[in-house]
Amino acid sequence: MTKLLTAHFDEPKLHELETYRRLGGYEGLKKALAMGREALMAEMGKSNLRGLGGAGFGAAMKWSTVPPESKNPGPRYVVANCDESEPGCFKDRVLVTRNPHQLIEGLLIAAFAIDAYRAFIFIRGEYEVQYKILEKALDEARAAGLIGACSIDLMRGAGAYISGLDTALLETMEGKKAWPRQPPPFPTAAGLMGRPTVVNNVETLCMAPHIVLHGGDWFVKLGTPKSGGTVLFSVSGHVADPGVYEFPMGTPLKDILTAAGGVRGGKKLKAVIPGGVSTPVMTSDELDTPMDFEGPRAKGTFLGAGGVIVLDETVDMVMVAHNIERFLSHESCGQCTPCRQGSFWHERILERALSGGGTAEDLVALERAGENITGQVICALGDTVGVVTRALMKKFPEDFKSRFPERRG
Ligand SMILES: Cc1cc2nc3c(=O)[nH]c(=O)nc-3n(C[C@H](O)[C@H](O)[C@H](O)COP(=O)(O)O)c2cc1C
Repeated sequence: MTKLLTAHFDEPKLHELETYRRLGGYEGLKKALAMGREALMAEMGKSNLRGLGGAGFGAAMKWSTVPPESKNPGPRYVVANCDESEPGCFKDRVLVTRNPHQLIEGLLIAAFAIDAYRAFIFIRGEYEVQYKILEKALDEARAAGLIGACSIDLMRGAGAYISGLDTALLETMEGKKAWPRQPPPFPTAAGLMGRPTVVNNVETLCMAPHIVLHGGDWFVKLGTPKSGGTVLFSVSGHVADPGVYEFPMGTPLKDILTAAGGVRGGKKLKAVIPGGVSTPVMTSDELDTPMDFEGPRAKGTFLGAGGVIVLDETVDMVMVAHNIERFLSHESCGQCTPCRQGSFWHERILERALSGGGTAEDLVALERAGENITGQVICALGDTVGVVTRALMKKFPEDFKSRFPERRG
């Protein structure tokens, strides 16, 4: 099975420039510079590479919306988003730890594509080890003259989930509170310091050298027509072998679970959260779902950032809902009232149910509160509040009925 990003993960010194180059590293960048911007964009377009940070926006489409220098003279920027704070996702951490130069090479290709001379890697504050690995790799790449006229700066987040959202990330980079911006304008028109900015996920950028080297047609054929290439899944929860697994786009969910050793301890599978905690749950009847950007969507959920969380038969879905809503309530930036208040109410109502005080009326209140948040807020964090709980309620009604009983008198 073809692996791209994790192909050389068994090389012990892959993080060092010498090893990376011996295995063909930085050849993609060399080829991109030689082929020129137009040809590069054409290959990226053919590849159907989708953004792997969660939203699945076409990478080439995003790059092509940056206005050309002739129409909008002045600096433009590229930012690698390594904030990775979605519970259940840890693939960017692994990518940066094992192969930092792959990200640097991809970032330089993206910078060349949009004519940017300044690039950034925004890394979550808790990724201390990865920060040091990247710092060292950047020093090596600079000393070898690989970064050329482009500069790459490393910036650290301060531990907020919302900082991973592109516009909140840009606010953070500008030294402000991480409050999402209300688009339009989108970052490619007015991003960092009001200048055109491409924000891409680490994994998305890591794909670029492979597309350049092998061609967009080759890449798209590895996956499905609308979701080209491969994708990394962070598999966690009740599986025998949790870890990061690379598969072609469109691989059935059951194959991913099998690779991770199946449900541990001989227990039965109850549910799978497919793309990190902000994606609605799937049942054990949905394991044939092809895992690309289209498959989970047809089941009312999302591929997200590939954070597959496996839940066995012992799990109480009300506890799962409480856990997720507590996280969202804690991480809500507070800018939009429906999200700030609604996530808090969800947390409290679910908490009360867990301590034995739930009623059937509470369940109705939960449903109504959730419906009144989605679509009434600036960002996708707020949109998520209630959606995950409603999916759990719909797919596991028995769990909720026992925690929210009818009470008389
Ligand atoms: C609350 C929230 C947190 C997010 N966190 C991240 C993150 O940590 N890393 C990431 O790449 N994208 C994250 N995103 C998605 C980004 O806003 C953006 O879509 C992504 O960085 C674009 O890169 P891509 O097109 O390569 O996927 C988050 C979105 C939301 C709503």
